[in-house]
Amino acid sequence: HAESNINAGKQKAESCASCHGENGNSMVATFPKLAQQHSSYLEQQLRSFKDGSRNDPMMSAMAQTLNDADIADISAYYAAQKVSENTLPVLAADDEKPAGNKDVQATIAQGSDLYRNGNLKSEVSACIACHGPFGEGNKPASFPALKSQHADYLIKALTDFKSGARSNNPENIMHMIAKKMTDEEIKAVSYRISMM
Ligand code: HEM
Ligand code: HEM
Repeated sequence: HAESNINAGKQKAESCASCHGENGNSMVATFPKLAQQHSSYLEQQLRSFKDGSRNDPMMSAMAQTLNDADIADISAYYAAQKVSENTLPVLAADDEKPAGNKDVQATIAQGSDLYRNGNLKSEVSACIACHGPFGEGNKPASFPALKSQHADYLIKALTDFKSGARSNNPENIMHMIAKKMTDEEIKAVSYRISMM
């Protein structure tokens, strides 16, 4: 029953709050927000950390402590929270001229264009097709929500997909997409998504 999952999950998620924040709205740019993320996606990622197919020094250890019921309860809890708008600066302080010396506006515009249209020349698919016009993702398909996620985390996720460091799902579509993206495109689209 969904309501009992959420209540149990709230208790069980107490040990996660130190990194993922109150109600899953992390305030640290390298710790992803979990609020309002689809529960099926969260469950998938926690199982991947637990079985070692996705690796992170902190999460791999945390996931070992969770059984199937914990994973279901915690995921239901975070999915029921509301994601907060980003209050951290979009651009890192040391990154005044990101993405090949272009100004900030041009970078954001490049990110918008890539998100909506992809890159026809290098065959990067349009993100909007799966992650939605508002970054809301697609719940039935377990395509994660990206809306208001921290830019630094998004850059790391895309860079890990690109290098293959993150490929827990053998048919991971993101692996194929990110391989075709330049580092400049990764930055631009991440900045744009963090403002959604
Ligand atoms: C990533 C859940 C505790 C640090 C994630 C993700 C989930 C998750 C679902 C994947 C997010 C995504 O793909 O969008 C949890 C739960 C916790 C917990 C349920 C408690 C049981 C912690 C703690 C820390 C932490 C205590 C810090 C010490 C991180 C980091 C990542 C992450 C750094 C990103 C890993 C990467 O870059 O691939 N967590 N977490 N988590 N979590 Fe946790
Ligand atoms: C995951 C970005 C296009 C399907 C992700 C994540 C990011 C991302 C940052 C990780 C989310 C997290 O860790 O919380 C993008 C960008 C795209 C794009 C910038 C365009 C350039 C697409 C397309 C599809 C797709 C076109 C579907 C055909 C997925 C799926 C996952 C995912 C299934 C989960 C992968 C996993 O289990 O690790 N995407 N995406 N994405 N995306 Fe995309």
